[in-house]
Amino acid sequence: MDRLIERLKHAENVTFLTGSGISRESGIPTFRGKDGLWKNYSPEELASPEGFMRDPQLVWDWYNWRRDIIRKAEPNRGHLTIKEFEKNFNVYVITQNVDGLHEKTGVKNLVELHGNIFRNRCSRCGKMFGDIQTKKIPTCECGGLIRPDVVWFGEPLKEEDISMALEWSKNADVFFLVGTSGIVYPAASLPFFAKENGGFVVEINIEKTPLTPHIDLHLEGSASEILDMVLKRLDK
Ligand code: OAD
Repeated sequence: MDRLIERLKHAENVTFLTGSGISRESGIPTFRGKDGLWKNYSPEELASPEGFMRDPQLVWDWYNWRRDIIRKAEPNRGHLTIKEFEKNFNVYVITQNVDGLHEKTGVKNLVELHGNIFRNRCSRCGKMFGDIQTKKIPTCECGGLIRPDVVWFGEPLKEEDISMALEWSKNADVFFLVGTSGIVYPAASLPFFAKENGGFVVEINIEKTPLTPHIDLHLEGSASEILDMVLKRLDK
């Protein structure tokens, strides 16, 4: 922790890569781990273009269920502490979460790498739509089915999002990995770019991950608790 505080004292650019663990305390389930979504649901059926083609209504129903949970959620101390870092640093947030909770805190520099669950787009013509609250899967005027504007397995990330995320990772004096299992690529490669370019990489997680052996510091505990502790130590 002392090494981190020392690095932060001389840092200008601080980048965060967040995953579903940061939103756990807002009541949103994670994907992996004991209560993870992928324990009870199949990513092939519910989060892939093939699954959507097979049963679009099933996919829409599942996303409606998730949207209902997320609609009630508010940013927690973890999201809010990241926003507070802006008082001392240029802060860049790269999130794999589709819940929009970082955006709600008003953080200035944000990339939602895997999209946003409250945006939709036509699966045929690509036309964008906002939040649509219907039980039956909606269709576009072109006749195509409308789907959530999120990245599914087997789909590429948006070019501009990944290049922004790369730039922010390379520029980071300190790079925080927060609440991510670090197994979904290309997101999980970003800490390596940070490290190669001289950044100090810190992981905050309730357990160790496959990335733990490759980083500078692992801080074990909940995202909100640890981030709050780091900020308080800095303010002293
Ligand atoms: P995962 O569910 O894979 O990992 C969540 C991580 O958060 C785990 O390592 C937990 O140990 C940790 N965690 C849980 N509660 C925490 C807390 N309170 N504080 C800190 N850490 C905590 O979620 P992601 O890494 O976000 O992709 O998953 C990456 C991608 O896989 C997701 O964006 C999604 C998923 O399939 C797509 O949908 C494309």
